[in-house]
Order: sequence, then structure tokens, then C-alpha cells
Amino acid sequence: MTIDEMKEKLRQTISPERFRHSEEVMNEAVKLAGLYNADVEKARIAGLLHDCAKSTGKDELYEELEKYHVVLDDIQKKTPVLLHSILGSFYAKEHYGVEDREILDAIYWHTTGKAGMTMLEKIIFIADYIESGRNFEGVEEARKLAYTDIEKCIVLCCNSTIRYILQKGRLLHPYIIEARNDALMRIEAGS
Ligand SMILES: [Fe+2]
Ligand SMILES: [Fe+2]
Repeated sequence: MTIDEMKEKLRQTISPERFRHSEEVMNEAVKLAGLYNADVEKARIAGLLHDCAKSTGKDELYEELEKYHVVLDDIQKKTPVLLHSILGSFYAKEHYGVEDREILDAIYWHTTGKAGMTMLEKIIFIADYIESGRNFEGVEEARKLAYTDIEKCIVLCCNSTIRYILQKGRLLHPYIIEARNDALMRIEAGS
């Protein structure tokens, strides 16, 4: 499937606002991949498709994930917002013909991040935060850091989400804490 065919298919399955967001994330991901020597075409596809399962309803999410034999941990089971990225990686393969493991993994991890992300995973994770439609405290700083210090950008984005989750009193998945710690340790190690 060509990128234009993917766009058309995606446009039909998600809201106009989500489609706009997807295109913006794609554009950011392409720019970041150029800067950080990641594969630009993989970044383009992963950015475009990262939210391809976002319009799946809550009940359907669980049914679909069961269909793919996904085993969820206790926090994932109780936090549906974490699941569209997991299902998205399966949809990208089944509905958009994406076979590339790096692209599928970047989609899979885009919501929580994790320790030891690949550059493509980092790029999709932060592109999702910094696209022009986003608005959160520190977003301008995040946009700057994305292009100057990607690890600091990851810390800032994780902090913002963790703060929000704490404020709302919701369950906090350890993956995002691990993503933050990993980035912080990389900054301290000077890498
Ligand atoms: Fe998402
Ligand atoms: Fe997104």
C-alpha cells in the first residue's frame, strides 16, 4: 500500500480532527528522523498510522485485542487509553500491510514509551506530543527540545503526562516512569 492509499484509508476510519493530528505527527516525525538519522520513510508511516486504532470503542478494543491473543497486564486492563497503541500496531499490519517490525513497535509504544526505546520509537513518542495542535504547559519548551535534546524532551513529555495522571488520580503505568528514568539516566551519562 502506498502512503497515499494509507492516508485515504485512515481518513475513512478516524475523525477529521484525529486525521489532522495524524498528518501533523507524520510531518514532525519526518523532520525529526531527518535530524536524528532515523529512517525517514519508516517515520512517515509510523507517524501517520500511530493512532489508526484510536476510534475503536472501549468494548471493541478488548474484543479485538483478545482476537490477536494479546495478554494485558492489570493496569492496561483498567486503562483503555493505553490500548489503542497496542491494537494500532496489529491494525497497521492487518489493515495497512505494514510488515516492518520497527514501524509496528513505534506504534505499539507511542502512548507510554518504555526504557530502551529505539530512535524511531522516541521520535513517534515525542512527535505525538509536539505537533502544532497540542497545548499543554511546557509544550513550547518541548517543541524546542525535540530538535535540540531528544532525551530532555522525553523527560519533559513524561513529566507532563505523569503530572496530569496524578492530578486526575488515575492509574499510572510503570512503562512511562521507566521511559522517564531511562531518559534521565542517559542525560546524566551524557549520551
Ligand atoms: Fe495515540
Ligand atoms: Fe496521537
